[in-house]
Amino acid sequence: MQKLAAGNWKMNGLDAALAEIDALAAAHPSPECEVLICPPATLLSRLAARAEGTAIQTGAQDCHAAASGAHTGDISAEMIADAGGAFVIVGHSERRADHGEDDATVRAKAEATWRAGLTAIICVGETLEEREAGRTIDIVGGQLAGSVPDGATAANTVIAYEPVWAIGTGKVPTLEEISEVHDDIRARLTDRFGGDAGGMRLLYGGSVKPSNAAEIFGVSNVDGALVGGASLKASDFGGIVEALG
Ligand code: 13P
Repeated sequence: MQKLAAGNWKMNGLDAALAEIDALAAAHPSPECEVLICPPATLLSRLAARAEGTAIQTGAQDCHAAASGAHTGDISAEMIADAGGAFVIVGHSERRADHGEDDATVRAKAEATWRAGLTAIICVGETLEEREAGRTIDIVGGQLAGSVPDGATAANTVIAYEPVWAIGTGKVPTLEEISEVHDDIRARLTDRFGGDAGGMRLLYGGSVKPSNAAEIFGVSNVDGALVGGASLKASDFGGIVEALG
């Protein structure tokens, strides 16, 4: 299994930010892991063009479930493929919270991603209230059951576990807590999809930095990271890529 370092730029980045791609490619011409940047939709085709010939792949942060139609402001997975994207993040907690996306919506978006021939990065994760109530495993298990469509394979799907309370806060679960959730996700996927799920990549996300990446990557069933803030600068993200190598 090839590990994956995925950067989610969220709603950050103007044209000048593309210089980070040049710096990242120069510092890591042949990384041992797969490297992905998901910029805002406005930069998708520019970033894909800029990254051509490098080891950096391009992805999107969301898509509509339909291929085309009267959906003002939305973009489809087919459009993302057309712009040079290879991955789509679906069900990020910020989309679930800000746009009311439920598991059924996320599942439809994952299916749309496959329809366009792309890989879905399906996000799950509990809130602080849910963790403190001892409900983490139930919540994440329920999101997995509802958000991951039948037909998920190691090739078309990546799962990202992102505790909501760890996103952008500098707070990170203990290694034991990460291990407990990732082991449970692996077991549930294997139960449902069989042996192929052993090769499905499970990313951890939430305040990953160069300084904590190596220890997080040492946890069993952590096959990479989905990185927000620390993906915006090539120097930070490069440190995470290196830790995964
Ligand atoms: P931070 O790395 O900024 O905590 O964000 C994580 C995230 O939400 C990536 O999708």
